Amino acid sequence: EKQGYKHFMLKEIFEQPARIIDTLRGRVSVERGEVNLPELGLDEASVQAIDKLVFVACGTSYFAAQVGRYMIEQHARIPVEVELASEFRYRDPIVSNNTVVIGVSQSGETADTLAALREARALGARTLCICNVIESTIARESDGVLYTHAGPEIGVASTKAFTTQLAAMGMLAICLGQLRGALGEEQARELIEALRQVPAEMEVMLRDMAPYETIARQFSRSHSFLYLGRGNQFPIAAEGALKLKEISYIHAEGYAAGEMKHGPIALIDKQLPVVVLCPRNRVYEKTASNLEEVRARGGRIIAIGNQDDSRLEAFADVVIGLPEVPEFVQPLISVVAVQLIAYHIADFKGTDVDQPRNLAKSVTVE
Ligand code: F6R
Repeated sequence: EKQGYKHFMLKEIFEQPARIIDTLRGRVSVERGEVNLPELGLDEASVQAIDKLVFVACGTSYFAAQVGRYMIEQHARIPVEVELASEFRYRDPIVSNNTVVIGVSQSGETADTLAALREARALGARTLCICNVIESTIARESDGVLYTHAGPEIGVASTKAFTTQLAAMGMLAICLGQLRGALGEEQARELIEALRQVPAEMEVMLRDMAPYETIARQFSRSHSFLYLGRGNQFPIAAEGALKLKEISYIHAEGYAAGEMKHGPIALIDKQLPVVVLCPRNRVYEKTASNLEEVRARGGRIIAIGNQDDSRLEAFADVVIGLPEVPEFVQPLISVVAVQLIAYHIADFKGTDVDQPRNLAKSVTVE
């Protein structure tokens, strides 16, 4: 059932364009400039009344929620909090009847996320979820479910679940923006078009494995990696670091690029590979200058940016070129690069990619 792929994880990485198409199907219309998510039971009055959205999630799903925050705050102008599910209920959270708490979970069975949603409901919030498994506990217990259509995810390291969650976040942002009156028709149409183009652009990314093979050869013996990103690339830096830790057992940290000078810069030397997520967007200049600081201190750079960016070529040891896409969907494209970095390093090291030690596919204890 690996369909000729060496690992389920690789098969699932390559499946992403198709699963994103499945997730968007029937929900978006460029012609009408509309996103329809009737399963969430949202209408203008209820969306106008929302005081804030709180995402609760764990692991990779938590990083998807962080990307969702950028999308929703920018395009729907609703305040969004993102909380680790395991922290949420011990914080004595402030939620009202107008707060919508959204669980994000591939499996729908993660104990911490379920407990956070139960707590939110007990406090009077309305609960929704973004979930991949039909009729899972989290799906059954939520007031509304937005299903991702990633299909069964076998590899323990989450890949297609994440990108379909991002597609769901994108649709949710547009839908909320329209109901809230924050998003004009033309803008909505552009964002929908951006989402619809993601699968084709991802296919372009999946054509060239050469840079990842180079990275695996050069960096598999490193003991630690730093991943840097700003704005909506910051959660992708964190996700990239998580993927590397999980399957290659190499320590890695994802950091906001702007925070580097507040501490982690002390780590930089010739031994430390630094993965910089630097596609052209509103924070490009700042991130590029962080990259130059790393270079000046002798760090080894793997830059993930636009394929025609000669500035990156000048500073980086390896450049992974991304196709040009609107900022709204850049995380869906750049994450494929960090998934493939982790995969190729782990495969080079010969670890058990699909069943990493100590990990379970769904964590049903708190
Ligand atoms: C990472 C990974 C885990 C899960 C986390 C949440 O690759 O698989 O971090 O993302 O355990 O799981 P779900 O989304 O099923 O609630």
